[in-house]
Amino acid sequence: MRAVWITRAGGPEVLEVRTTPNPSPAAGEIRIRVHAAGLNFAEVMARQGLYPDAPRLPCVVGYEVAGVVDAHGPGVDGPAIGSRVLALVRFGGHAELVCAPVAQVVELPDALGFEEAAAIPVNYLTAYHMLFRVANLRAGHRILVHMAAGGVGLAVLQLCRTVPDVVTFGTASAGKHEVLREFGCTHPIDYRTEDYAARVRALTGGDGVDIVLDPLGGRDWKRGMRLLRPVGQLIAYGFANAASGERRSILRLARQAVGVPLLSPLGLMNQNRTVSGVNLGHLWGRPDLLREELSALMDLWHAGVVKPRIDGVYPFDRAADAHRRLGERHNIGKVLLVPSG
Ligand SMILES: NC(=O)c1ccc[n+]([C@@H]2O[C@H](COP(=O)([O-])OP(=O)(O)OC[C@H]3O[C@@H](n4cnc5c(N)ncnc54)[C@H](OP(=O)(O)O)[C@@H]3O)[C@@H](O)[C@H]2O)c1
Repeated sequence: MRAVWITRAGGPEVLEVRTTPNPSPAAGEIRIRVHAAGLNFAEVMARQGLYPDAPRLPCVVGYEVAGVVDAHGPGVDGPAIGSRVLALVRFGGHAELVCAPVAQVVELPDALGFEEAAAIPVNYLTAYHMLFRVANLRAGHRILVHMAAGGVGLAVLQLCRTVPDVVTFGTASAGKHEVLREFGCTHPIDYRTEDYAARVRALTGGDGVDIVLDPLGGRDWKRGMRLLRPVGQLIAYGFANAASGERRSILRLARQAVGVPLLSPLGLMNQNRTVSGVNLGHLWGRPDLLREELSALMDLWHAGVVKPRIDGVYPFDRAADAHRRLGERHNIGKVLLVPSG
């Protein structure tokens, strides 16, 4: 089978399409012939050598796929061979074939296409889990959403619309603000030309917000903490600030690391604040929870709420362009990889 390999840490040029023997499904697994796979920011970081969870290089990454079941491992009797499915996989998704534990596989409704399906799992599970399980989003909440025009950001904005009177502040480059508004963002903020924290303060009469969703990390976590009203919550779920540019920079990493706020339970108690962490990649031990949330998302897809915006679809041999699209901050929504053009 063909797959997109990260051959070593570096710029997009380190990606190579290689052919290797087909994988065999182990007990409890099915094998999927991949029709579309999601590309996530974590995988761009993995290519840069900045993602500690990634397999050792050289490797094939990819957390989510949609395709057709083409083999069963021992002890598996469904979904049937030929079924259309989506799956969460712990790497290896950027390939023509991938094996997945059945617990992480969901059958697709006929009307849900492979590309749309592959755009759902990581972005929407992250968004749903943060909003409804961790942050307990309620009517009237004010929420600051960073990287708002990315895959997770747009999913967050779309899901916020299911709760009345939620006020959203979304940071993104100015050229993406029209799309943010289409997705229901109340206050798009161009973080490149203005101080987003000052703007949020001005827009809230100095009061701040109830929830900060922060995948940037470093100094931004400190700034986000200061924007919380009493009973506010900051959810840390990424460290994109470590990855600006095409390659790893130790200096940039160190600068961001010293910006990370020091927290104490006593301080949090006295300020009535909560800091939470979310890492979907570390929830594989809770397939029950992932399935429950994925099933809620499929219901929301049926209800017309979940509608991923696909920014672009790239064949494997143009994977470098797909990585550049994210790394150079051009994407609005999901970038997908497909086996052939
Ligand atoms: N913890 C979890 O379980 C989990 C799951 C999924 C994603 N994440 C994290 O969530 C974040 C968003 O992921 P995603 O896949 O939705 O992102 P994405 O679609 O790749 O979004 C990329 C966009 O983010 C903006 N951006 C802001 N700061 C950036 C930076 N330093 N470098 C590059 N782009 C930057 C850019 O848009 P502008 O031009 O508008 O700035 C860029 O187009 C990432 O940090 C990712 O690691 C975490």
